[in-house]
Amino acid sequence: MSNKKTLNVGIIGYGFMGRTHANAFRKVTNFFDTPFQPVLKAACGRDGAKLKAYADKWGWESTETDWKRIIERSDIDIVDICTPNDSHAEIAIAAARAGKMVMCEKPLSLDGKQGEEMVREIEKAGVANMVWYNYRRVPAVTLAKQIIESGKLGRIFHYRAKFLQDWTINADLPQGGAGLWRLDAAAAGSGVTGDLLAHCIDTALWLNGSIDNVSAMTETFVKERKHQLTGQVEKVEIDDACAFMARFGNGSLATFESTRYARGHKALNTFEINGENASIAWDLHDLHRLQFFDYNDEGQYRGWRSIHVTDPDHPYMGNWWVPGLAIGYEHSFVHQVADFLQGIGSGKPASPTFRDALETQYVCDAVLSSARSGQWVNVPKLS
Ligand SMILES: NC(=O)c1ccc[n+]([C@@H]2O[C@H](COP(=O)([O-])OP(=O)(O)OC[C@H]3O[C@@H](n4cnc5c(N)ncnc54)[C@H](O)[C@@H]3O)[C@@H](O)[C@H]2O)c1
Repeated sequence: MSNKKTLNVGIIGYGFMGRTHANAFRKVTNFFDTPFQPVLKAACGRDGAKLKAYADKWGWESTETDWKRIIERSDIDIVDICTPNDSHAEIAIAAARAGKMVMCEKPLSLDGKQGEEMVREIEKAGVANMVWYNYRRVPAVTLAKQIIESGKLGRIFHYRAKFLQDWTINADLPQGGAGLWRLDAAAAGSGVTGDLLAHCIDTALWLNGSIDNVSAMTETFVKERKHQLTGQVEKVEIDDACAFMARFGNGSLATFESTRYARGHKALNTFEINGENASIAWDLHDLHRLQFFDYNDEGQYRGWRSIHVTDPDHPYMGNWWVPGLAIGYEHSFVHQVADFLQGIGSGKPASPTFRDALETQYVCDAVLSSARSGQWVNVPKLS
């Protein structure tokens, strides 16, 4: 163990994200020179036996079966929220009031109004905070940000994003409860909009600036499903698919599409940006590559180039292996922890903060509202 100042983490939820985060907290100081050493202090979940197995596997020092205990404990510095969306607000607000730093899984909240309350509370408490929109920290996506900031693209005309899956096509799939809370609007807030498009929107806002207005359509293809918790067949209230058009503040036009009914696609998260001088494209299935077309290249050599983002000159990559060797999905979470810890050390908070993530919530709300009304809807500006 290093002699760095330690920060004790209490994680709530030991599912999919509980694993990616534990992995990130364990690895971060092996690869990044951070000002603090995170300590896997306590893990929380409601099922004691499963929790114990998780804690033993990942090296958490202690366990709690009630999340309120994590908040009460004086030896916890950072509360890390890895539970379904309907519990983010209650846990984050309680943690902030107790003076804990808060790392919260995305989406920040069920809707913008709830997100505003979270932002108010976290800023009143003055504690470090972050939302896990991890795709920003895939090196190829961070490289896209650097290329855009360099001005190489010139004026941006188009932004095109997709997040396609196919895992809910079966009409016999239940909704609600363990593993299926994403199909239950009460637990998830919305369907693909808050779950998948929220990622695309966060990336888009980061790369291309604010969105002014949206026009959306949604569909729920399977109207009723048995609820795992009640045993009753209940109306499905989430959006199974969503497509929307958007106008960015910089004048560019955008299309976003997400569905869990695109047979053959598991997690096709992509974006393409077309500027006056150059274009960029990225695809999660090939996450260590960035496609780049530069019109300023000499005519006969002009064409799309595929940048293998593994060079020490590329974002984050100098901390990993040697040029040519790729990293993957889980490393984006390691980068997120590294940046969070650097932000605490430097006093320049790493993004997205709760406030940054509220903007994504506003866009999601506008999308869902437009889908209901059939009208274009303005996105409220962050105050
Ligand atoms: N950043 C990403 O790429 C990404 C990917 C997947 C999920 N997520 C987000 O992470 C969160 C969790 O998703 P997941 O896929 O890990 O879900 P999951 O179903 O795999 O895990 C959720 C965990 O929360 C626990 N839990 C639920 N209610 C609880 C409570 N009241 N007290 C204590 N524990 C409780 C469950 O037992 C489970 O361990 C969601 O908000 C989701 O949107 C983000």
